[in-house]
Amino acid sequence: MEANICNALVLRSFESDRMDLEAFIPAFYQTFFAACPQAQVFFPTDIERLEAKMLASLTHLAEALESTERLDGILSALGDKHRKMEISDIHFDQFIHSFTSTLAKTLGPEWDDEIHEAWTQFLKFVAKRMSFFTSSEHPEINE
Ligand code: HEM
Repeated sequence: MEANICNALVLRSFESDRMDLEAFIPAFYQTFFAACPQAQVFFPTDIERLEAKMLASLTHLAEALESTERLDGILSALGDKHRKMEISDIHFDQFIHSFTSTLAKTLGPEWDDEIHEAWTQFLKFVAKRMSFFTSSEHPEINE
């Protein structure tokens, strides 16, 4: 999928009337920890602080969709933090899967295969910019 179409679809979900990021984020972490309990050891017990940061981060990402340079700066710093925590591609895969399945529930009738593809492509692009998915199993996307 072309990057501009992908970005437009992602932006449309962010702007949807059905989207409530403050409710979405805790729902996402609940799904993620149920699907990937081994990831929970990385996280602080006070998850609320992280949820607030994630909210800010997603808002930044949405705002920076139009500007690759801004996006790159945000994501390389974020990637360094995650690398230091020894988080792996497998965690990222599970993270993306949990993210899209939670979003599918949030967006309900507005969710379809195209939006699913757009979000998966976008989140893999984000992961790559965070220096994950660098092996050949994950070819370059959204360039
Ligand atoms: C698209 C993918 C992701 C995004 C956008 C993202 C975003 C963020 C942000 C914004 C923070 C706060 C950084 C700060 O303190 O300034 C954070 C922290 C963190 N993230 Fe991620 N993250 C992603 C994937 C993952 C994955 C796959 C894991 C795997 C387990 C993970 C685990 C953590 C942990 C453990 C923290 C630190 C919590 C703390 O001690 O405060 N993240 N992430």
